[in-house]
Amino acid sequence: MTEWSREQRYRRIEDVNKDELEALKHRIEQSSYRQHFHIQPETGLLNDPNGLMFYNGTYYVSHQWFPLGAVHGLKYWFNYTSKDLVTFEPNGPILKPDTIYDSHGVYSGSAFEFEGNLYYMYTGNHRDEEWKRYASQMIAKVKQDGSIEKLNKPVIAHQPEGYTSHFRDPKVFKHHEEYYAILGVQTQQELGRLLLYKMIHRQIDQWEYIGEITTELEDFGYMWECPDYFSLNGQDVIIFSPQGIDAKDEKYRNIYQSGYLIGHLNFDTLEFKHDTFMELDNGFDFYAPQTFIDEYGKRILIGWMGLPDTQYPTDEEGWAHCLTIPRELTIEEGRLRQRPLKALETLRQNKETALGYANKYNTTLHPYEGTQYELIIDILENEATEIYFELRASKLNSTLISYNTREQKITLDRSESGALPSNVEGVTRSTYLDSPLKQLHIFVDTSSIEIFCNDGERVLTSRIFPDENATAIRTSTETGQVYLKFTKYDLGRDK
Ligand code: FRU
Repeated sequence: MTEWSREQRYRRIEDVNKDELEALKHRIEQSSYRQHFHIQPETGLLNDPNGLMFYNGTYYVSHQWFPLGAVHGLKYWFNYTSKDLVTFEPNGPILKPDTIYDSHGVYSGSAFEFEGNLYYMYTGNHRDEEWKRYASQMIAKVKQDGSIEKLNKPVIAHQPEGYTSHFRDPKVFKHHEEYYAILGVQTQQELGRLLLYKMIHRQIDQWEYIGEITTELEDFGYMWECPDYFSLNGQDVIIFSPQGIDAKDEKYRNIYQSGYLIGHLNFDTLEFKHDTFMELDNGFDFYAPQTFIDEYGKRILIGWMGLPDTQYPTDEEGWAHCLTIPRELTIEEGRLRQRPLKALETLRQNKETALGYANKYNTTLHPYEGTQYELIIDILENEATEIYFELRASKLNSTLISYNTREQKITLDRSESGALPSNVEGVTRSTYLDSPLKQLHIFVDTSSIEIFCNDGERVLTSRIFPDENATAIRTSTETGQVYLKFTKYDLGRDK
């Protein structure tokens, strides 16, 4: 791995000459891992989704971005607009680190509409000469011509007494016609917490500290990043990304987690009564998700398909990561369900279907193949002890999804998937379903897989880095046979 000096990490894209950037772009275009229907960085590193909003007939989707390489350096917001959340128009950097308050990074934040205008609230990251961190919360207005006007000073200058400067990622939301911001923070005792602020006197630059939200999670990691609050189907949901939680059986196996609490938030006492913390995704690569409301009033979630402090096979090519496909959220039987955005169906091409049996030795199903596709597998009868689905398979590669019938356990095994990220614990991720497996709905792109189980009951999201010729789809069982229906569509849009 090439080491990046601090100076290299904090170089501004504005100071880099055109030829150097073009050379980097050209190098990245040659990569065999470039995605076809996911948002990915033109160059450099993408992380959290930021400023998600449907405003005036257009979707705004931005992401954290360090343009010059696959490292966490000086962060910008890179912006896309879209009419349908399926195809996206790149608009370049929309928020830049160009004030003293955000000199060391325009960190994560959210979008909101106020008096007819689109605004962002985000964290300004500043470091002094001794490299001491200062975090403040800033507001920027997106003007009608698309240009940005930042308010000239932070609207929240620093963290309250009792907390460290790990104080960031404001999510602005409206509750009973008032504007609030929920933030992630660390206490002086190094515990992750959530804070609430409120806009007062209907003044965009006046935000009052309301207090800490109390949850039933006393000791649950050292920092909570990227919180989100919304109400859905009559309940309150808080999503956040805690850091510093130990793995427990099949749970919390990634370096950092992201999950949700469902319950009731009392806005007077700030007490949040809730059910247990549930992970949003059971795959290898998922972090810092955010939600927003689409044009139909549905709650949509987009996550970062990556994790901090992990090295990926594309790092050496000068780029890393992508966003997940958008997912529609509902609460059913006390849990979040996540279904792929309906509009993604417009990407479908070349429908193929097959109905047949699979057993230990062979399958009567048509031997499909592909590198970018959507695959729906309906399990019509299951007498097998274990079912195996291999995707992106060749002589050398295979990404294996297995289902253990007795335990209702789904396992994603990427040990043979191809090149692997490093600093990752283990090569499998598993989850226990709430009900017997009836359906897998899978989205495969050049270097990723998103597996929706039982109509959104669980999702497993992972990057995979197979060879280009690893295209086969295979099915078999351990003992007993299964009767399956396959429906496959190519998802061919080039990016
Ligand atoms: C999460 C995060 C945020 C922060 C941003 C900086 O991945 O650490 O807390 O705002 O990334 O890029």
